[in-house]
Amino acid sequence: MNTAFERTVSKDEWLTPKHIIDALAPFDLDPCASKVQPWRTAEKTFTIDDNGLIQPWKGFVWMNPPYGTQTQKWFRRLTEHGNGIALTFARTETRMFFESVWSKASAIFFIKSRLRFCDTAGNAASNSAGAPSFLIAYGDEPKIRLAGSSIEGKFLELCPPPILFRERESGYLDFAPRRSTRRGD
Ligand SMILES: C[S@@+](CC[C@H](N)C(=O)[O-])C[C@H]1O[C@@H](n2cnc3c(N)ncnc32)[C@H](O)[C@@H]1O
Repeated sequence: MNTAFERTVSKDEWLTPKHIIDALAPFDLDPCASKVQPWRTAEKTFTIDDNGLIQPWKGFVWMNPPYGTQTQKWFRRLTEHGNGIALTFARTETRMFFESVWSKASAIFFIKSRLRFCDTAGNAASNSAGAPSFLIAYGDEPKIRLAGSSIEGKFLELCPPPILFRERESGYLDFAPRRSTRRGD
């Protein structure tokens, strides 16, 4: 896969396209906003100068976090906060996915086709991103907003695992149905 774009965005300020924000807004807080914003992502914003990770988070959060090794810390914080929508690359094989999406998110939305992120002047990149993106909801209201958005893609509600599966995971129960060994059963 072409990952040149991802290497670039980890260094630079690649912003969420306006149509994505508009389709999901309003947001109370963007804890990792660009210092130069061609459009507002949320009512309140923290930038790198504030270090959004150490600030108090309030209300409905929009989060397109810095890429690379920092991403996981941002997802842990949003998971704890429990009210918001995040955008990131749809890397379903990563530790971040298993830790912060698989069992914590209320819903996900796979965006159809790759996004063209924008520079701080609001211009779309000449190339689309090197990977598809998805939106991740934490909490009920964020789930409802994702479900009702006009963005092209596929909405998936994530249910809490059924009780038998949970018990199997914790070693109490074998999930496979037991087979009778009696003849004629
Ligand atoms: C991928 S960009 C997304 C910007 C914006 N949230 C959006 O959706 O368009 C990630 C942003 O996080 C900012 N950032 C990096 N480290 C940060 C920190 N510790 N606190 C707040 N913002 C930070 C970067 O400056 C960059 O603008």
